[in-house]
Amino acid sequence: MAPYNGNIEDFPGESGILFEKVPCYIAILDRDYKIVRSNEKLRNTFGSCRGRHCYDVYKKRSVVCEKCPTEMTFHDGQEHTSTHVGINKVGDETHYIVTTSPLMGENGNVDYVMEILTDITQIKSLEKDKLEAERLAAVGQTVAGLAHSVKNILMGVEGGMYMVEVGINKGDQSRTAEGWDMLQRNITKVSTLVKDFLSFAKGRKPVVKLIDPNVLLDDIVELYADTASKMGIELKKTRKKYMASAPLDPDAIHTCLTNLVSNAIDTCHISSKDKKIVILDAVEDGGNITISVSDNGSGIDYDIQKKIFTTFFTTKGGNGTGLGLLTTRKIVQEHGGKIEVESIPGKGSVFKIVLPRKQLPVMNDSP
Ligand SMILES: Nc1ncnc2c1ncn2[C@@H]1O[C@H](COP(=O)(O)OP(=O)(O)OP(=O)(O)O)[C@@H](O)[C@H]1O
Ligand SMILES: [Mg+2]
Repeated sequence: MAPYNGNIEDFPGESGILFEKVPCYIAILDRDYKIVRSNEKLRNTFGSCRGRHCYDVYKKRSVVCEKCPTEMTFHDGQEHTSTHVGINKVGDETHYIVTTSPLMGENGNVDYVMEILTDITQIKSLEKDKLEAERLAAVGQTVAGLAHSVKNILMGVEGGMYMVEVGINKGDQSRTAEGWDMLQRNITKVSTLVKDFLSFAKGRKPVVKLIDPNVLLDDIVELYADTASKMGIELKKTRKKYMASAPLDPDAIHTCLTNLVSNAIDTCHISSKDKKIVILDAVEDGGNITISVSDNGSGIDYDIQKKIFTTFFTTKGGNGTGLGLLTTRKIVQEHGGKIEVESIPGKGSVFKIVLPRKQLPVMNDSP
């Protein structure tokens, strides 16, 4: 409690010196929010203030601030603390934490309120610098990852160019065709990488439609069944269970399923198992729609599992960009859901997209 003796003008002796010289801002306010006393540091920073409203002195406002701690202390006689941004006498933004304390008169009423302000402008500026440094570090890492992926793809482009050149020089048509094919694949890869990266970095506004998730699963099975079967992989969907339509961005969920299914096919393709299988499933339980993609491929080691959702992480060298799962997770989160992985190394993996119905996006206005 402040050394208040009933006379606000009088903080005698040492108290008076301490009040003046203490290295924080102190003000005493009456019930009209007028400053009746202030210490030296407060006057040096905010200018002369005696008889002026605190909100005018600290913030150049003409009305009391919202959630004013002084108002609360006058009301309940308790201490209150809050953080504010003011403007000092030379017009610079000043951040401070204010704590208010009641000065009770003999009748037990709160006659005045003492405000103690701690200037945190420098801390705020350091915090801002730190955030900026972190942002730049993230940009640097991302650019390095992108450059690495492009470099890998360019190796494929160079290989293709070499084959085309040799094919032309030797009049070897099949070699030229093979090289041309390699060139095309790698150009498509770099273009997909750039598009995926841009969509990942910028995001897109979801275009939401009411759709039965089973329809999306059917589309994917139709799209990939041929490719999978040529690789000796059985791709199938479990028997359709009834599910009410849900507000989803079909293109975005389609992208998620494409990513998960192509990962599942990739892992089965390199597996030495006799029977290779990828299963898609959609169920609704307890208000959650769960779409899962299971495979009996290589499974994922625990150490790798920790990294699969990080930018550009891939174990596929030049054949992967490491953006698939990251993009998938971003889309799932935009739908208010989460993505889970269960994997047993050597046995296979299940990727589950869990979408709580209550958190799904709202429908766009258009029909
Ligand atoms: N079903 C799976 N089984 C085993 N490993 C997987 C599976 N799904 C993902 N992974 C691992 O996670 C890594 C990251 O996957 P992600 O889809 O993000 O990138 P990618 O498949 O390598 O590249 P891209 O998707 O661009 O082709 C993969 O390289 C692979 O190591
Ligand atoms: Mg992938």
